[in-house]
Amino acid sequence: MSDQTIESLSQEKRLFAPDAQFVKQANVSGMVAYQALCAEAQRDYSGFWARHAREQLTWQNPFTRVLDESNAPFFKWFEDGTLNASYNCLDRHLATQPDKIAIIFEADDGTVTRITYRELHRRVCMMANGLKSLAIKKGDRVLIYMPMSIEVVIAMQACARIGAIHSVVFGGFSAKSVHERIIDAGAVAVLTADEQMRGGKAIPLKTAVDEALALGGCECVKQVVVYRRSGGPVQWSDGRDRWLHDLVSNQPETCAPEWVSAEHPLFILYTSGSTGKPKGVQHSTAGFLLHAALTMRWTFDYKKHDVFWCTADVGWVTGHTYVCYGPLAVGATQIMFEGVPTYPDAGRFWRMIQDHQATVFYTAPTAIRSLIKLGATLPNNYDLSRLRILGTVGEPINPEAWMWYYETVGKSRCPIVDTWWQTETGGHLITPLPGVTPLKPGSCTLPLPGIMADIVDETGQSVEPGKGGILVIKRPWPSMLRTIWGNPERYKNAYFPEEFQGKYYLAGDGAMRDENGYYTIMGRIDDVLNVAGHRLGTMEIESALVANKLVAEAAVVGRPDDLTGEAVVAFVVLKQTRPMGEDAKAMVRQLQEWVSHEIGPIAKPKEIRFGENLPKTRSGKIMRRLLRDIAKGNEITQDVSTLENPAILQQLKDPQG
Ligand code: WTA
Repeated sequence: MSDQTIESLSQEKRLFAPDAQFVKQANVSGMVAYQALCAEAQRDYSGFWARHAREQLTWQNPFTRVLDESNAPFFKWFEDGTLNASYNCLDRHLATQPDKIAIIFEADDGTVTRITYRELHRRVCMMANGLKSLAIKKGDRVLIYMPMSIEVVIAMQACARIGAIHSVVFGGFSAKSVHERIIDAGAVAVLTADEQMRGGKAIPLKTAVDEALALGGCECVKQVVVYRRSGGPVQWSDGRDRWLHDLVSNQPETCAPEWVSAEHPLFILYTSGSTGKPKGVQHSTAGFLLHAALTMRWTFDYKKHDVFWCTADVGWVTGHTYVCYGPLAVGATQIMFEGVPTYPDAGRFWRMIQDHQATVFYTAPTAIRSLIKLGATLPNNYDLSRLRILGTVGEPINPEAWMWYYETVGKSRCPIVDTWWQTETGGHLITPLPGVTPLKPGSCTLPLPGIMADIVDETGQSVEPGKGGILVIKRPWPSMLRTIWGNPERYKNAYFPEEFQGKYYLAGDGAMRDENGYYTIMGRIDDVLNVAGHRLGTMEIESALVANKLVAEAAVVGRPDDLTGEAVVAFVVLKQTRPMGEDAKAMVRQLQEWVSHEIGPIAKPKEIRFGENLPKTRSGKIMRRLLRDIAKGNEITQDVSTLENPAILQQLKDPQG
């Protein structure tokens, strides 16, 4: 982020105080109530979390120990307690609200399916029994590669019910990515669908699974279970493949939950880091579920008549916490959507809010920006009067987009919760509370009670207001990741670095705090890009590019983008002569396709530039800072005297294709 942007954010003076009526009815009602919670956590950290863990979760065996720091940073919470996540999401609502709608599912073509808690429970039990009939058991990893559907929630919940660990892979990732994740986790089964429907088009999923398994090394996978979504063509491998409907058809309608330790892994979710290999972020059962439920009540002010809609795909952490687990844990009615916001037109989200009477709407800044572009006045054509809270997640929201969201969607009535968190944090950590926090456009405002956030310099000292620094969390919290699957060293090095004596959790974001203590996120401080709210490692894209036989070398950087926040720019050296004109354009397309195939369309470079070499220091290090300037189209003002080969800068400044 440029100094200019920091400057403009720190000059943002508009504040929007919560409405008195809202404050009165809120779960956390007013600043005094918030401060009391913060003070309680300060006074008795363990007691604070223990109280919430008892209030929010139903335990089979209550815990007696709260936080175990003896093997830091491998923290344990509530470890001697036992529970089951699926029991907490389903069974405990059966006595009180069996006929309440759990999910209103709207398919790509507009077909709506509603499912009650009773029916969801029944189907999760049948699926759980189906998985058991395949000899899948507690601790086994199950890879899920499915579209947004009631079935994917059933699949995740069924895994949780039997203590199997799910690893959901976003349907937009490639066969190669599926392959890598199968092997890393040692998955015993893959749950997928024939195809997924997006914007009227069918996109194959089963084919990608077949391709992944054919890449070899996947002997761990014994079963592939296929949900028939579209009826499109699929190849079949007898013995290995079976239809989901066949698997569940004769299963008993109840299934006793597997009681697991609080620390039993609930899921693994892969995310990008600063190396070429995605990390399997491992979450616990109790700590994760506690935070999911608690933030439904705190951040989203959950009330039993709410209709909650989080638009995230279950392939991302937001879809884990605020689609599959959080809403069900508190017994909410939620909307789930299969399609894309622009199909059949850019009014889709607004129409769905109206038709399903959504009260809480949670989406990504990129979606908001693209919908502004496609129809800034479209929301006015729909009745959005049931909305009471809006939310954003995944990337910084620029104040202009915030104002539009506030005024045009929320009619200046609905607080916006700009929630900062990460795959690793399990749930919101820094966010406004709707009945507490005066809102400041572009700022995620204040840490939740019990979250000891700070901004520090390289030596670990807190920085003064108005100065940028490194965002850290100074104490472990229940929903934090427990480790990187199969790689505890990487967990330690990436998140608890030596520079802070291994004491602070390093988020990987830069941030700034104003004189009121409000946080503003300034973007990643590592080699991770945030494109449309999706995390991409520059190294991952570089590895994908150099895996192409035509590519000798590649360097990937981000540049600001009006729509997607950041965009991927790749600088490539080919093994053949540097292409020009039409050849360059064709080569750009070829390499874009290649990256789509290697990682997934989301990682496709927006721009590719060719040079005969990359700018390097005499010791051979690629000068990325220079490349960032070139990508932004900035004049190069920095010292290039250490550059081995200054002549190639001119080549790289010239965007082909
Ligand atoms: C960024 C998504 C600004 C941040 C839940 C973080 C944000 C990364 C916000 C995590 C926000 C997330 N404002 N930036 N409200 N929320 N980020 O793991 O850089 O996909 O480190 O988790 O997204 O992305 P992830």
